Order: sequence, then C-alpha cells, then structure tokens
Amino acid sequence: MQFDILHDTHVVIFAKAVGIRSDYGLSEQDDCMADRIGILTGGGDAPGLNAVIRAVVKTALNVYGAQVIGIYDGFDGLYETGRTIELTRAEVRGILPRGGTILGTANRGNPFARRVIRDGEEVVVDVSDEVLEKIDALQLDTLIVVGGDGTLRISYELYLKGCPIVGVPKTIDNDIGGTDVTFGFDTAVSTATDAIDKLHTTAESHHRVMVLELMGRDAGFIALHAGIAGGADVILIPEVPFDFEKVCRKIDQRAASGRHFSIIAVAEGAFPAGGAQVYSRSGDEISAARLGGISQDVGEFVAETCAMETRVTVLGHLQRGGQPTAFDRWLATRFGAAAVRMAMEGKHGCMASLQGQQVRDIPLEEALAEPKRVDVEGDAVLTARGLGISLGDE
Ligand code: F6P
Repeated sequence: MQFDILHDTHVVIFAKAVGIRSDYGLSEQDDCMADRIGILTGGGDAPGLNAVIRAVVKTALNVYGAQVIGIYDGFDGLYETGRTIELTRAEVRGILPRGGTILGTANRGNPFARRVIRDGEEVVVDVSDEVLEKIDALQLDTLIVVGGDGTLRISYELYLKGCPIVGVPKTIDNDIGGTDVTFGFDTAVSTATDAIDKLHTTAESHHRVMVLELMGRDAGFIALHAGIAGGADVILIPEVPFDFEKVCRKIDQRAASGRHFSIIAVAEGAFPAGGAQVYSRSGDEISAARLGGISQDVGEFVAETCAMETRVTVLGHLQRGGQPTAFDRWLATRFGAAAVRMAMEGKHGCMASLQGQQVRDIPLEEALAEPKRVDVEGDAVLTARGLGISLGDE
C-alpha cells in the first residue's frame, strides 16, 4: 500500500512507530525524524528561556508525537546521573511569562574542561566522551541546546564528535553572529531603559551626574539601545574606545547651557582609548573573567574633573531577571518551534536564527565564525551622534 501524501507527519510517525518504511514509501531522510528530543539551557539565563522550552514541548507533542526529555543545569545534567525529567504539557503549563529557566542552567559545566575529583584530587579533565555516552543511553535523537556564545561553541565541539545538536541562540548581550537578534535582549534593554528613566528624575532634582553600568560583555548593544531609548547624554561602548576628557566636555557643555545634570550609560566592556577593560574577577580554565568596574572609574573622573556631584549605579543581574517582554516571548517561541522542525529534518549542527522577519536555520560553524558587535558606522551609532549624544570619542 502506498500513501499519496508520503510525508504527512502522522504517516511518518505511525510508520516509524510500527517499524515499517517501505510500505509507506518513506525515505532514508524520514529516519531523521526525532522520537526523543533532549533539551538543556546553558550559560547565563535570559528572559525567554521558558518560552523556548514550552514551544519545544508543545510542538514536539502536538505536531510530531515525540517525547521531550529536559536536562537539568546545562551540561552538568548530562554528566551527573538522575538529572533529567520527561517534559509533558503539565511541566510547561504557565511558564511562558516566567523569567529564568525551569531546567536550571550553569556556566561552568563545559564537558571539555570539567573540574572533577580523581583519586582524591581535584583535576580539570575532558569528560565529553562520557557526555556522548549519556546522550546515547538517554536514546536522544536530537539534543536542543539553548545557549549563548560559550554554550553554542561547546555544542559545536560536541556536534563534531557526533552529537546530534540543534542550537537555539539566547543572550541578553545580543552578541551572537548569524541572527539579527537574540531573545532576552529586548527585555534587558527595557529594564535598562526603565533604570535610565528613573535615574533621570533623581539626577535632575539633585543636579547630579548619574553613571549607569550595563551588561553586554564585549558588545555595547544594551548600553547603546537603552541609552538612546532612555535619552542618555553619554553612551560608552566597547566598540568605541573613549576619552575621559571628552566625556567631561559633554557634561561641562550641558552645565554651561543650564542643564545641571547628566546621564552616562556605560557598557561593562567599555574602555578608554589606549587603556584596558576593567574586571571585577579574573578568569581561570573553568570560568571566564568577570567584567565590571568601569563605571566607578568614569564616575570618579567626572566627579573630580567636572566638579559635579556624581553617583554610580551598577544595574547588574536585574537585566537578566523578570518577565520576558512580548517580543522576547514571541521570538523565543518561534525559535523553540523551529528547533523541533530542525530536529525532525535532521538538521544537526545548525542553529535557529532570525533573519529579517523569517526564522531560518544556519550552520553553527557559520554563526560562531565571528561574534556580533555594534557596527560603529551603523544607523544606531549615527543616530546617537546626530542627537548630540557623546560616545566619548569626539
Ligand atoms: O552573557 C550574559 C551576561 O549577563 C553578561 O552580560 C555578563 O557579563 C555576564 O553574563 C555575567 O555573568 P555571571 O552571571 O556569571 O555574573
């Protein structure tokens, strides 16, 4: 018997379930269909992670009748035993508007460099083979990894070793190549803009300079977007090394024209021309170095040089928390659904990405080739300059 609509999803699922293929005219390609999909969230959390998990579970169950296995705390859950859960509709009910991730996450679980105790001693070893064995033991046809730059790089290495990875990009920093934007970024920008709005009223009342340090690692997207949206007077980003004197010139100009307050939005990765980024903690083979502290330097310089009362606020992890915006829920949901379709098409080693209005897939290798940075010739920077916002370089 031959079916006319050979690639009808339910026909494929049924045929696979009963272990026949030829009778239904199914091809080798149909064997790519994933019966059991694993999902983990890795790296720093970002608003929208739960929306991805929910979309993966609902799409896998509703459209393909596939099982979804959640893995706790990033790659840790693939190394440690008993750290998985079958995700059904019950587990994902009500999580769409919730920040964080119901699966937990970790940014120290790199299987290629994991701290373990061997013969009573703490050592850093490559446990990637054990992780691959675990994926086999869990009988996962695809592992969906939702992560930022670091997690996706680890995923790509695992893919090269044979792991059936599908990637979903997430980060508030928006620094992943191959996608116009990552989910989490919009929420972080909203939070940062709200903070600038709040600093404005107190700055104006007290005739102060308010310096706000924002996250973003080596990319200045959060500071630039929130700075423009919140009407900051100075925006300092890593892509445009700044000059302390030029920052002060802007503050002085404002004061000279009767505006005795100013807002400076500074990205944590910003640094003075000829100088270096400021770290609050150095890195090691397990953890990346932690950026932080540049706002203090800017605040001290401004206070001394401009003779204006200055206060510094570090917004920190507030940018990663809270409910995702509608845009982030929308994007995360589309990415989750796309990841399941990619799993069903056997598009391992690829990542969901937003290109214009379309969600497409691109090879992880391509996405990771170059990190995304603010285009210093782009319209956002031109807009800021045109509005008279100082980037501290002219
Ligand atoms: O990558 C997301 C991010 O929030 C960065 O903006 C920030 O530098 C870093 O993570 C902070 O990481 P942690 O949660 O380890 O403090």
